[in-house]
Amino acid sequence: MSIPTDPAALGADPGPAVANLETIVSLAKRRGFVYPSSEIYGGINAVWDYGPLGVELKNNVKRAWWRAMVQDRDDIVGLDAGILMHPQVWVTSGHVGSFSDPLVECAACRRRFRLDELPGTGELTATDLRDETIVERLGLRCPVDEGKLSAPRRFNLMFKTYMGPVEEEAAIVYLRPETAQGSYVNFKNVQQSSRKKLPFGIAQIGKSFRNEISPGNFVFRMREFEQMEMQYFVRPGDPASAAFDEWLPKRMAWYARYGVTPSRLRFREHAPDELAHYAKKAVDVEYRFPFGWKELEGVHNRGDFDLGNHAKSSGENLEYFDPATEEHFIPWIVEAAAGADRAAFTFLIDSYREEQVRDETRVVLRLHPDLAPYKVAVLPLLKKRPEIVELCHRIKDDLRRDVMAVYDDTAAIGKLYRRQDEIGTPWCVTVDVESLEDGAVTVRDRDSMTQERIPVEGIRRAILDRMEAARQG
Ligand code: GAP
Repeated sequence: MSIPTDPAALGADPGPAVANLETIVSLAKRRGFVYPSSEIYGGINAVWDYGPLGVELKNNVKRAWWRAMVQDRDDIVGLDAGILMHPQVWVTSGHVGSFSDPLVECAACRRRFRLDELPGTGELTATDLRDETIVERLGLRCPVDEGKLSAPRRFNLMFKTYMGPVEEEAAIVYLRPETAQGSYVNFKNVQQSSRKKLPFGIAQIGKSFRNEISPGNFVFRMREFEQMEMQYFVRPGDPASAAFDEWLPKRMAWYARYGVTPSRLRFREHAPDELAHYAKKAVDVEYRFPFGWKELEGVHNRGDFDLGNHAKSSGENLEYFDPATEEHFIPWIVEAAAGADRAAFTFLIDSYREEQVRDETRVVLRLHPDLAPYKVAVLPLLKKRPEIVELCHRIKDDLRRDVMAVYDDTAAIGKLYRRQDEIGTPWCVTVDVESLEDGAVTVRDRDSMTQERIPVEGIRRAILDRMEAARQG
């Protein structure tokens, strides 16, 4: 499969969906999507907390991923491995030796930077980034105070802690920097208990930790984050290339299917000197963030690097027996590695719109209904009429059997609609005085702002049908 990586072939830069990241950061805080962690103590760098709406959005992203990767497929099963693993796992996987970024330090202010994030390093190759003379050769200075920078050194990104009551070298364990290794060390368990035949996959969602040198851009790069990773086990060689070519467009299509503007997605293949220590080939699905084109997800051909090394190091036979050909071999792995936070962030940014409606600006999140935190808001036109309020609660309780539904009466109806638009609620159900007589209510659509009168007893079905139509669409 040929992947367009030449910028000219990729077409014009579509520009970001939101010019200023601050727009999203402030909406996220104000409406309860994301807060800085430990804020009352001044926060902790690179950790963020998800508020009432954020946790719904992120759970919905994870559900949508699980649906595509596990629920809809016969050949992929799930796993939830521990965050803490035997420390030898990380020696064997190469992370203890090689999972590092180039770090430089300012002699004046002592601030530390990731070399490849410094201004003027955009065009450097991975080989350049390993060159000890690079800072001097390019005359790089501290971006804060122009101080002299050290030569780059490799900084390992793994967090360490101690297992058990004694803080000694022998008790060191690591917080996992990727979920993938849990799938590899369980390969045999999963294959034997699920009786899957090659090719088959193991999917996992869970927290990972990296002591990033320069985290930032809100939830884009954090030190504690969540991954959604699928490891696909195949026969060695060509079948791995074929699986790679199949998964790469599938993974890009998943983001588009849930509403990301296709022109803001592209592939970027890693140069040979840039490949991670485990990868034979790697292509990123990139998104045009407000701070440039950046990785959203990586698809990697890991060959037999992981299972081969774990077999050698543990002494376990991790070969697969193919009953059809009577062959024993170590499977190769094609991995689709996504970030739940980065995906949720992307959906938030790309769905953001400011629209002119009758001399007013309406802010709306055009989130796919499957991803929207609330599917329906039930609103009374007159909150002073107890019969109206009571009917609202009845409708909301009925809807809640299937979807997230909320009741709100804390403002006039126009304002209530705007609030729901701003958090992406696809439908509002409004109960008015007439509803008490004709038994019908108004359903307002977030995107078209059209309104339809529907009998109360048909509301649940109407919402479920619309959800289904959005899913099919
Ligand atoms: N198992 C392979 C692996 O971990 P990766 O490209 O390092 O590959 C996969 O990470 C995905 O995890 C990234 O594409 C990104 O979405 C997410 N991710 C990685 N580091 C992250 C960080 N510091 N903060 C948020 N998300 C991160």
